[in-house]
This record gives sequence, C-alpha cells and structure tokens, in this order.
Amino acid sequence: MYSGENIESLNKLLEVLPQCEGEDYYKLAKHLSIPVEDLKPYAFWSDETYTRNCVVRTDKYELLLLCWQEGQETPIHCHNGEECWVYLAKGQLREKRYVEKQGDLKLTADVKMTQDRLSYMNDELGYHSLHNLNKGTSLSLHLYVGPIDECSVYKEEKDKFVFKDLDYYSKNKKIVSN
Ligand SMILES: [Fe+2]
Repeated sequence: MYSGENIESLNKLLEVLPQCEGEDYYKLAKHLSIPVEDLKPYAFWSDETYTRNCVVRTDKYELLLLCWQEGQETPIHCHNGEECWVYLAKGQLREKRYVEKQGDLKLTADVKMTQDRLSYMNDELGYHSLHNLNKGTSLSLHLYVGPIDECSVYKEEKDKFVFKDLDYYSKNKKIVSN
C-alpha cells in the first residue's frame, strides 16, 4: 500500500514499488520527481537505436530507463495487455497515438512531452510511438505492470503488425547486448 508521499529519488521509488498494488501505480506515477543524476548509472546509449535499460524487474512490474539520442524513435506498438507509465526525466519526447479502424491506423493524438510530463498507455487506448524531439539526448522512465517481453510493432513497409521480442540493452548497470 502506497501512502501518496512524493517520490523524489530513484531509491525512494525502488523502496515504494514493491508495496504497490492496483490503483497505487496510478497514484505513484503522479508523485514522481526523480533527479536525472539518480538515473545516470543506468543510462547507456547506442547510435543504432534508443536503448531499453532494466532498472528492476519482478513478477509484478518492470522499471526501465529508455535512453534516446537525437531523432531516435520507437515503431508504432501495442503493450501486450499490460499497463505502461512513461515519466520524462530529461529532454523532450513526441508521442503519437493511433487506433485501428477498418484495417487502417488512424492518428488520434500527437503530443509533445516536455520536462516531467507523464503519459499512460494500455491496449484499450490503442497504439503509440515515441520520438526523441530533443536537440540532444532524452531520458524516460517506463513502468510496466506487468513486465513485457514482446509486443506487436507496425511495419510500414509491410503495412501490418508483427511480433517483436523486447530485449534489454543493459541490466544491473551493465550492457548485455549491442
Ligand atoms: Fe509504449
């Protein structure tokens, strides 16, 4: 049970997350104010793509730090039945949302996330993509309840969704793939 206090450090977040259930995650996400300094030990960048860095993973949730270089973006994707909160810690992201209508993807939102902006997504809300708009790097914390190992991503050239395995770029502050 989370009492609703402000979460002003990564350590505090890691302490509170195991106590959360159900609605607690919604409340917790609204009280985040995490200094960029706390996230730096988990930050690794790649020239190829944005990176997914595992901060902590349990059976119930997964906390990832996504590191974005200028111009990097996700494909349009689903969340495999899970819930996802995005907390922008540094920089600027653009989020585009879509729903499927008669076999076509229809854009429903196109929003700039600026500092401390929070986003929430699940499959009922449709699909989304994220794009780093910052002239430089951006950092975002992603909380998945529960963890996600694969999702559907939209392949523009094939005009259809395909399943994709989701890998970590680093875990326990060490690079695991490249
Ligand atoms: Fe997502």
